[in-house]
Amino acid sequence: MAHKLPPLRFGYDALEPSIDAETMELHHDKHHTAYVDNLNKALEPYPQLAELAVEDLLRRLDQVPDAIRTAVRNNAGGHVNHQLFWDILGPPADRSPKGAIGDALKRDFGSFEHFQALFTDAATTHFGAGWAFLVMSAPRQRLEIVSLPNQDSVLEHGTPGLLCCDVWEHAYYLKYRNRRADYLNAWWKVVAWDVVDERLRDAMVGPSAR
Ligand SMILES: [Fe+2]
Repeated sequence: MAHKLPPLRFGYDALEPSIDAETMELHHDKHHTAYVDNLNKALEPYPQLAELAVEDLLRRLDQVPDAIRTAVRNNAGGHVNHQLFWDILGPPADRSPKGAIGDALKRDFGSFEHFQALFTDAATTHFGAGWAFLVMSAPRQRLEIVSLPNQDSVLEHGTPGLLCCDVWEHAYYLKYRNRRADYLNAWWKVVAWDVVDERLRDAMVGPSAR
């Protein structure tokens, strides 16, 4: 069964002014679509692999044939990373992390503000295209910040992603040009912490939950 592009949960303009509608439309309808299409194309000669969930493909990347491993890493990674990115965003609101995620951030980083500073630093200083993630590390079940290049996925490392920020230029260049730090500052205002909290609870249930 071919992989499909999930629709956005909100309109292209819902994240204004943090993320502009034109960027959202291009990012979702062109960039994310291309990862899904290219993944399906790479899997065409391998019907058994095409049946696997995209997350399982990434967890078992070492078992993917050499001929398509790079294409799967880039395009399954691009698909999963963008799904997570859209999931954890929502219209601007006066939100802050509460519940389990609020407690865990305080436990592992000292305070939300300290976590935010560390994550912002990881995202703004990441060289070139890539992502910053908040993950649940295994087996200690502690929160950690990691940055990965290109479309690499945290699932390859067995760590469920709870939050991610896309720092490819396509995510911000139309509005912010080369000012990645300004994009980060605005991006925090559209993080849907209730979704991040839900993802943390799922990750605590089991490593295969996400
Ligand atoms: Fe992107």
